[in-house]
Amino acid sequence: MVIQRVGVVGCGLMGSGIAEVCARAGYQVTVREVNPELLEHGLGRIEGSLRRAVERGKLDEVAARRAREAVRGTVALRDLASSDLIIEAVVEQMPEKQAVFRELDGLCPPHAIFASNTSSLSITEMASATRRPDRVVGLHFFNPAPVMPLVELVRGLVTADDTVDTAKAFAASVGKTVVLAKDYPGFIVNLLLIPYLLDAVRALELGVAAKEDIDRAITLGLSHPMGPLTLLDFVGLDTTYLIAEAMYAEFKDARYAAPPLLKKMVLAGYLGRKSGRGFYDYRS
Ligand code: CAA
Repeated sequence: MVIQRVGVVGCGLMGSGIAEVCARAGYQVTVREVNPELLEHGLGRIEGSLRRAVERGKLDEVAARRAREAVRGTVALRDLASSDLIIEAVVEQMPEKQAVFRELDGLCPPHAIFASNTSSLSITEMASATRRPDRVVGLHFFNPAPVMPLVELVRGLVTADDTVDTAKAFAASVGKTVVLAKDYPGFIVNLLLIPYLLDAVRALELGVAAKEDIDRAITLGLSHPMGPLTLLDFVGLDTTYLIAEAMYAEFKDARYAAPPLLKKMVLAGYLGRKSGRGFYDYRS
């Protein structure tokens, strides 16, 4: 099956990045957000990223214009009905993701593939909300999607071979390297990343070191591009908290239990870069 039109549900940090990646690869993309304000904000993020890519010589003006023209924003899910592939990137909560897929199932023709950008939730469980569980798959992009070269392709228990093949060819066509994972909480990256990030918060909570030194130790000692607390601010403390909660619910393993400090920061609205404040202050 050949993908021509792509739908993206959610134009937040990940949805906007995924829409941009698809548009830059030549696909016609319709991206849906729940209200005009959020849609405008998300489309603005795509515009900013395209501009940055041009400034850095990663993209020429003509390609940026083509990408811009390939993205259409909407607040109506039915506008995604003609898509061959729909990628959902809504909040990391099962009821919301199932509701999106359930509604899309009634709107889209049977050939359409539903993909989830979930970081940790079960593809099989999402698929169970549809009458096409064999055409549901995980396509997990990484933040910032236009820059990070990886996509985790997640096969649910009943995902069909041709769905996996089509999704794999699609991810390669947008320039990503694909790794295949089974439907297991956290897949590959978050299975390893989440305990590490939570341990960094625990180290801070325990007073092992100052936040700057925890980050400096990891960037200079391990050559990571970002230390864990900076990365938490980058990914979003709320998103990380939801992923940790989902993984803890599955494993009942203390490694995935969110430390009290993380929960308190989320409740206080310290969500990281997106709210202007997390472990660090981005307001100036
Ligand atoms: N389009 C294309 N390329 C772009 C771009 C854009 N909009 N914006 C930046 N780039 C390119 C730059 O040109 C540069 O490429 P070169 O090195 O070839 O010149 C590269 O991307 C890095 O950009 P910058 O110089 O602006 O920024 P940086 O060097 O400070 O790196 C970063 C920024 C890429 C974010 C880097 O800090 C990094 O890799 N951080 C870690 C990010 C990470 O771990 N992400 C995964 C998070 S986990 C996740 O997402 C999954 C989950 O489920 C939680």
